[in-house]
Amino acid sequence: MCGIVAYIGDQQAFPIVLKGLKRLEYRGYDSAGIAVINDRQLNNYKQKGKVAELETFTENKDVEGTIGIGHTRWATHGPPNDINAHPHVSGDGEIALIHNGIIENYDTLKEGLLSRGHEFKSETDTEVLIHLIEDIKKNEEVTTAEAVRLALSNVIGAYAIVVMDQSNPDQLIAARKSSPLVVGIGKKGDYYLASDATPIVEYTNEVVYLDDEEIAIVDRNKGLRLYNIQNQEKTPYIQELELQLEELEKGGYEHFMLKEIHEQPRSIKDCFRGRLNVDKGWVGLGGIKDYEQQLANANRIIMVACGTSWHAALVGEYLFEDLTRTPVEVEYASEFRYRNPIIEEGDIVIAISQSGETADTLAALELAKSKGAIILGICNVVGSSISRITHAGSYTHAGPEIGVASTKAFTAQVTVLTLMALTIARKKGTLNESKFRRLITEMELIPDKVSRILESSAYIEKLSKNYKGARNALYLGRGNSFPVALEGALKLKEISYIHAEGYPAAEMKHGPIALIDEEMPVFVIATKGPSYEKVVSNIQEVKARKGKVVAIVTEGDEQVKNMADHVIEIPDTDEHLTPLLTTIPLQLVSYYIAVMRECNVDQPRNLAKSVTVE
Ligand code: AGP
Ligand code: GLU
Repeated sequence: MCGIVAYIGDQQAFPIVLKGLKRLEYRGYDSAGIAVINDRQLNNYKQKGKVAELETFTENKDVEGTIGIGHTRWATHGPPNDINAHPHVSGDGEIALIHNGIIENYDTLKEGLLSRGHEFKSETDTEVLIHLIEDIKKNEEVTTAEAVRLALSNVIGAYAIVVMDQSNPDQLIAARKSSPLVVGIGKKGDYYLASDATPIVEYTNEVVYLDDEEIAIVDRNKGLRLYNIQNQEKTPYIQELELQLEELEKGGYEHFMLKEIHEQPRSIKDCFRGRLNVDKGWVGLGGIKDYEQQLANANRIIMVACGTSWHAALVGEYLFEDLTRTPVEVEYASEFRYRNPIIEEGDIVIAISQSGETADTLAALELAKSKGAIILGICNVVGSSISRITHAGSYTHAGPEIGVASTKAFTAQVTVLTLMALTIARKKGTLNESKFRRLITEMELIPDKVSRILESSAYIEKLSKNYKGARNALYLGRGNSFPVALEGALKLKEISYIHAEGYPAAEMKHGPIALIDEEMPVFVIATKGPSYEKVVSNIQEVKARKGKVVAIVTEGDEQVKNMADHVIEIPDTDEHLTPLLTTIPLQLVSYYIAVMRECNVDQPRNLAKSVTVE
C-alpha cells in the first residue's frame, strides 16, 4: 500500500530514512514515522500528516543511531492518527515494526493475544503482528528473527515488514508477501531496505528483490542472509538496477496511469482479500456487518457519486437489482443535493468516492443523513471525510491512485459493490447456493483474467494508432456494459481531449446514428451474454454507415471478428462480472491514444484528482 524505508550501517540512520520517506511521497500517504536505536535505546517518532511535519516534530529529539526504520502509511485498518501511525512497538517497548499490507486474520490473532494479557494502543491490524512476535519470542524463548518467522507462519494476508529490536541493534529483520520489499547492498557493508528502489538508487545499484514468504536478516557483521518461511536458507539473487529515479517512481511505467492500470490484478485481489472465501463459500464486508439487516430490509437503495464513481454506481444498480431484487436509484450527487429529493424511512444511501472528499458527494450524503436515511460509504482513502460522516462503509483497498484518470479505483469500487450485492442477496435468499458459488469462484479468478488482458497491451497500443486522430468517438454497450461504455468514453475525453459519448447500444437508433461516418470510431462492448445478438445487430448498423468498429469480445468470438475493424478479446466470465474485464481494454485504448497525442496523461488539463469544491 504505502512506503517502507530502513537502514543499518555506519552512518546516522535518521537522515537516510527521512530522505527515503520523502522519495516515497509520490505514492501518497496519510501519516509517517521513524524509529532509531541509540545505545540500545529505541526512540520512536510518528504522527499523522506529511513527512515534512515529522521532520519538524523531531528537530529537537534524540534521533541518533546507525540503525533505523521508517514508514509512510496508507491506512487500511484504523483512521490516520498519531497512534495508528507506524512504527508500532511491542508491549515492552523493545521491538519496533513497520508494515505495508493487510493482516486479514488480525482480529482472530488479537483475541488470542488479549486473552494472554496483551494490551493494544492502536486500531491497526499491524500492531497485532508486533505483539504476536513479542508473544512468541517470550513464550518460545527464541530469537527475534525466529519469532518473526513463526509469527508470519500464522499470518494470513499481505505484508512487507521490517523489525528491529533494541536488545540487538546489529540486525534488521525483513519479510514480504504480496507487498513489495527490496534490499539495497551498500558499498561499505551498509544496507538499505525499501518498498521500491527509489530511496536506494542514490546509494547503490545492487539490489535484492525479496520473493513472497522470504525473510531477510541483515546483520552488521554477518551481512545479508535469506530464508524462506520454512527456515531454509536461500542464496540472494543480486540485480544491477538500471532504472533512473523518475522511472522508478512509476515502477518502470511511463505514467502513473499505466502503472495503476497494471496494478489492477493486485488491487482487485487486495479489495476482496479477507472478504471472500471460495472454499468456505463465504463473502463478507466487515465494515457494513452491522447494517446487513437494514440493507436486506431496505425498500430502496440510492447511490450517489460523481464521474467514474457514478459509473461504478450504475454497475452496482444492475448487480443489486438482479441479485438482491432491491430497487436501486443512481444519482449524480450534484443533482441529488439540489432537487429536494424524497427520502423515506428505511432508505439507504450509499456514496461511492475514490478520494472520499468530493464536495458534491459529501453534500449529498449530509442531505440524506439530515432526512433520516442510513448512509454508507465506499471509499479508497481511509479516514476521508465521507468515510467519517457515514454510519458505516467498506474501503476499496486499491492503494493510492495518483493518476487523475481513475482506473484501479473503478474496478475496486465494482468489486466492493459485487461483494455487497452477494452479501445482501444471501441474506435475503434471492440467490441460490449454486449461482452464489459460481459467482464467488469466478470472482476469485478475475485478477488472473485481468492479467491476461493486460498481456495484450502491445496489440491494443497498435490498434489505438488507427484512432488517435479521431475528433469524436462513440461507446456502446447494453446491460451492465452500458456503464462501462460511459466509463470508456470518460477516460478517452478526459485524457486525450477527443469528444466521446457513451450510449446504451439500442439508443443509437434514436439519434447518435446520425453521427456515424468513416471518421467516427465506435467502441462496442459485445461480450457473450443475454444481449449479444442485439449488439451484433448494432454493429451491423454502424458498419452499414461506414463507421469504424472496435469491438470488445469474448475470446474465440469469430462472428464479430468478421464484421468489426478491430476486436479485443477478453476471457469469458459470468455476465455479472464482465465490467471488471471489459473496462480494462478501454482504459488502455484511452491511455495509448492520449500518449500518441502527447497529452499530459497523469495531470490532464483543467482536471483535479479530487474535486473538493462545487
Ligand atoms: C475520473 O477519471 C475522474 N478523475 C473523475 O470523474 C472522478 O471519478 C470524480 O471526480 C469523482 O471522484 P471521487 O471518486 O474521488 O469522488
Ligand atoms: N494495514 C496497515 C495499517 O492500516 C498498513 C497500511 C499500509 O500499508 O500503509 O496501518
